[in-house]
Amino acid sequence: MTHRKKIVTPAIAARVEELLAKMTLEEKIGQLNQVGPTPVGGVDLELAEWKRMLDAGKITREEYDKAVAGIQMDAQEEDVRAGRIGSFLVLKGAEKCNRMQRIAVEESRLGIPLLLGLDVVHGLRTIFPIPLAEACSWDEAVFENSAAIAAREAVATGLNWTFAPMVDIARDARWGRIAEGAGEDPLLTSRFAAAKVRGFQGPDLSAPDRIAACAKHFAAYGAAIGGRDYNSADISLQTLHEVYLPPFEAASDAGAATFMGAFNDINGVPCTTNPYLYKNVLRDGWGFDGMVVSDASAVAEVVAHGTAADRADAAAQSLAAGMDMDMGCRCYIENLAAKLEEGAVTLQQIDDAVRHVLGVKFALGLFEHPYVDPTLADRLYLCDEHRAAARDAARRSMVLLKNNGLLPLKKDAKLLVVGGLAAERGEMLGTWAGMGRRDDTACLLDGLNACGIDYEYLPCCPVDNETHTIGNFDPAGLAEALEKADAVIAALGETKNMSGEASSLCDIGLAGGQDALVAALKAGGKPFAAVLFNGRPLAIPHVDEAADAVLEAWHLGTEAGYAICDVLFGDYAPSGRLTTTFPHHTGECPRYYNHVSTGRPAGAIRHSCKYMDAPIQPLYPFGHGLSYTAFAYRDLTVWEENGTVTATVTVCNTGSIAAEETVQLYVHDKVASRARPVRELKAFAKVWLEAGEAKTVTLTFAADKLGFYDIAMNYVVEPGDFDIWVGHDSTAELHTVLTLA
Ligand code: BGC
Repeated sequence: MTHRKKIVTPAIAARVEELLAKMTLEEKIGQLNQVGPTPVGGVDLELAEWKRMLDAGKITREEYDKAVAGIQMDAQEEDVRAGRIGSFLVLKGAEKCNRMQRIAVEESRLGIPLLLGLDVVHGLRTIFPIPLAEACSWDEAVFENSAAIAAREAVATGLNWTFAPMVDIARDARWGRIAEGAGEDPLLTSRFAAAKVRGFQGPDLSAPDRIAACAKHFAAYGAAIGGRDYNSADISLQTLHEVYLPPFEAASDAGAATFMGAFNDINGVPCTTNPYLYKNVLRDGWGFDGMVVSDASAVAEVVAHGTAADRADAAAQSLAAGMDMDMGCRCYIENLAAKLEEGAVTLQQIDDAVRHVLGVKFALGLFEHPYVDPTLADRLYLCDEHRAAARDAARRSMVLLKNNGLLPLKKDAKLLVVGGLAAERGEMLGTWAGMGRRDDTACLLDGLNACGIDYEYLPCCPVDNETHTIGNFDPAGLAEALEKADAVIAALGETKNMSGEASSLCDIGLAGGQDALVAALKAGGKPFAAVLFNGRPLAIPHVDEAADAVLEAWHLGTEAGYAICDVLFGDYAPSGRLTTTFPHHTGECPRYYNHVSTGRPAGAIRHSCKYMDAPIQPLYPFGHGLSYTAFAYRDLTVWEENGTVTATVTVCNTGSIAAEETVQLYVHDKVASRARPVRELKAFAKVWLEAGEAKTVTLTFAADKLGFYDIAMNYVVEPGDFDIWVGHDSTAELHTVLTLA
């Protein structure tokens, strides 16, 4: 049984058929063609020149995008008029989008509007925390609201489609794209996925302030071997279905209008040409009625995978597998007609793909309102409501990893601030920052200035604005400055370019001279708080050891500096919880909490499953995060009735300030026919507790969530005993046993 919220109503299906019946073959294939900033016709050289300037840092990404779109405009206008383009990526600006849309609607034979897509991942102009950060809020209302705001701003720039949410499970911190998803846990990422789809699409996708979501990258992109981007995933079908697919199913159930295929192969089959994914799982299994787009140039890349002879073969295989739209490499438009003639694809396959594309266009209401109001952007971008929401999300995304009492800092303390990242507005935006701008953004120093803090600033490890690298340690002036300061804030971590696409690392320690800076601070003897700016877990045991407090601030977006100061000075008690495990060393990757039980669990004895030169426990476990207060748990009761497991627990705020706790429930199947994870998150709840207050919290989940795929790939729920832990993080100790009859 599927639970999908459908987007294609019977009325839409009828309109699709009526339109399809009027289309020529060329118009049909045109609908499957998405064009973007890839060279078209005779403009290759000019584009290459702009790219060179971008790479040399002579122009900004925004200037580049503008130029590229401009160059292609003329070449592409004719194609739109002729019905040879169904969609654009990276067309930005209401005027430009309206112009192209007008050609499609008013000058093409059938007047079919365009899908205009962009990676609006964590905001368009008002930038929210990167997804990995926002996930740490464990707050579905935050996930949904930031997506709704991003949708509104995206509409204002003429878009009707975002290539988000990315819902890839990431277990390996070397993989740079870990920044773009919600972390390593299937349940949390599923909640994130569904909330994002609701946020982008709203209750009614055709409302003019909503855009189509795109669950990506289908599938197992995060399982890249070695954490190297674009690498193969070699995983069992059970792992695929138990770990990597659930967030996609959640996105589909929530009604995601589109899915994007992943670049990687799974067990040797490129996702772009994998019928199991699109037919068996997505359409037959989950009842998906939307459209599937390839990743950028991924159809052509099937040739590089070595499973297609040439681009034409790649196009035929992709279409036959269920890949509806070709992103950016023109393989479909150039080859499908010939492939049809050859009999390598069928008209039915082409028609089905076109149906899926048109279905999304009708569901979006594009035939009714193809254009956007060009005055919207001025009113919406960075408006007070959007900035306030971004600040709130940023506060909730931070995770206090360590605190020996230094935080919160007093506002009248004399502070020394070190680390180049403290002064870098642009770096706060993180990867895939839409149309976010450096100058709209608050860095840590902006936050301190707004609070009227007395501080001295020394970059010590400056950030190079052109290369986005972190420089060597320069100790000039540090000893004197330390002398004068009551306490130090050290801004450490990564620039925005160190995570995201094609940003895999084989060393997830601190870059540049930051280790030397940490050593100098330790030697200096002044209390110091490390504030981390990064898009992945870092291996930083030395920072944990040297610093009095460690605040994980990630890349928090437009309001970063203000939100960080809210936490540093105690106006907001940190409430974020990690959604990825922090290892001590890069060599532990992939490191994740929900690994299956081995025959020799890591322990004191040598011949157990561990490294000789690393601690058994991670540096910071999944779910970890401190507050300015403390919480105690007692009275755990769990039972199953009518297919629902219910747990009740008493949570008490034992400290002296009010704060929010995230109550987490973990499960382990004690005896099963396949080895099961040592712990798996099955439920969580947020609870606000005044100082000294105790509350009974109830957590529920469906008993069939205790199941798994057996060796023959049947989903089974095996009766027996299950360990249940409830508490503050994945090391929670309050335990009971649930017996499932
Ligand atoms: C990325 C996708 C993205 C697409 C379009 C690709 O390189 O993998 O996540 O949506 O580009 O920008």
